[in-house]
Amino acid sequence: MQADYDVIVADNLSNSVDTALERVKEITGKTAFFYQIDIRDKAALTEVFNQHPIDAVIHMAGLKAVGESCAEPLMYYQNNLDASMILFEVMQSFSVNKVVFSSSATVYGDPDTVPITEDFPLRMMNPYGRTKYMVEEMLRDITLASNMQAVLLRYFNPIGAHDSGLIGEDPHGIPNNLMPYIAQVAIGQREKLSVFGGDYPTVDGTGVRDYIHVVDLAKGHVKALERIAETETKQGQCLTYNLGTGRGSSVIEVINAFEKVYGDKINYEIVERRPGDVPEYFANPQLANEEMGWRAEKSLDDMMTDTWRWQSQNPNGYKDD
Ligand code: UD1
Repeated sequence: MQADYDVIVADNLSNSVDTALERVKEITGKTAFFYQIDIRDKAALTEVFNQHPIDAVIHMAGLKAVGESCAEPLMYYQNNLDASMILFEVMQSFSVNKVVFSSSATVYGDPDTVPITEDFPLRMMNPYGRTKYMVEEMLRDITLASNMQAVLLRYFNPIGAHDSGLIGEDPHGIPNNLMPYIAQVAIGQREKLSVFGGDYPTVDGTGVRDYIHVVDLAKGHVKALERIAETETKQGQCLTYNLGTGRGSSVIEVINAFEKVYGDKINYEIVERRPGDVPEYFANPQLANEEMGWRAEKSLDDMMTDTWRWQSQNPNGYKDD
């Protein structure tokens, strides 16, 4: 919205709240059109396309918890694949031919080497990862057969919050991911962080990831839209970019960085490895830089500062509103 796009949001609010959109209005001074629909409801989605002329779609409607996807694979295939197929069908019927898709570095699985470039072999390790891969494949096929322009953005580990402290991460129940877990220990909602594994072949034995500030990630989407706005070919194309910083940080390094901002210790204990975790991965983000003019600008310290600002200003997430 700050890049001057008119935005229409379609969300079933299964993992979000409309308060976040009110906060977006406070930040931008603008209102997004909002439809509380499930995009698997083709009639409802068609109505949205009937209401607005649409230039491009950013498709980030998907479930993303690895453990849950192993327990409920069919729910993941149903939700993530059906939603994508219906969306692409509706886009085609309205001749909307530009899409940016939220994919994930999870498609690289456990890479042989780091940093990871986009041409690395794809080795999904769980149903969630396979749904991301399958939607990528759908878009590769659709772009070959039509004038659809697609950008697949492979996110590394998005963390942080908007620097206003107004919008941030508010997971249901016990957080699966590291950053919201640390933030909830800091605010006193959880007693202790379990660090999954202290004997990996990494700098200090804990897992290494490429954490990227969520605002840098958002800007990557704007760049992706600009990248395909320029392209008006009869034949479609499917572009793929890593969105990461190119730097890996261990769990201990993240804890240390957070403690600097927080001003106190985070209670943690090193426990068994989490099944399915890989020791180390981080991006080579050069292609996104060369072809989209994008690069992550924010540091790990910015990510910690913004996470803590969000969590301390909103101890119960959006629930107090
Ligand atoms: C996970 C998924 C990834 C998905 C992403 C969504 C796997 C293998 N990958 O990434 O596919 O796209 O979430 O956001 O599950 N850690 C702890 N204690 C915790 C939580 C995490 O030590 O309580 C460690 C993990 O072992 C890992 C690092 O922190 O080394 C990051 O974990 P997490 O935030 O869950 O992200 P990923 O597992 O990298």
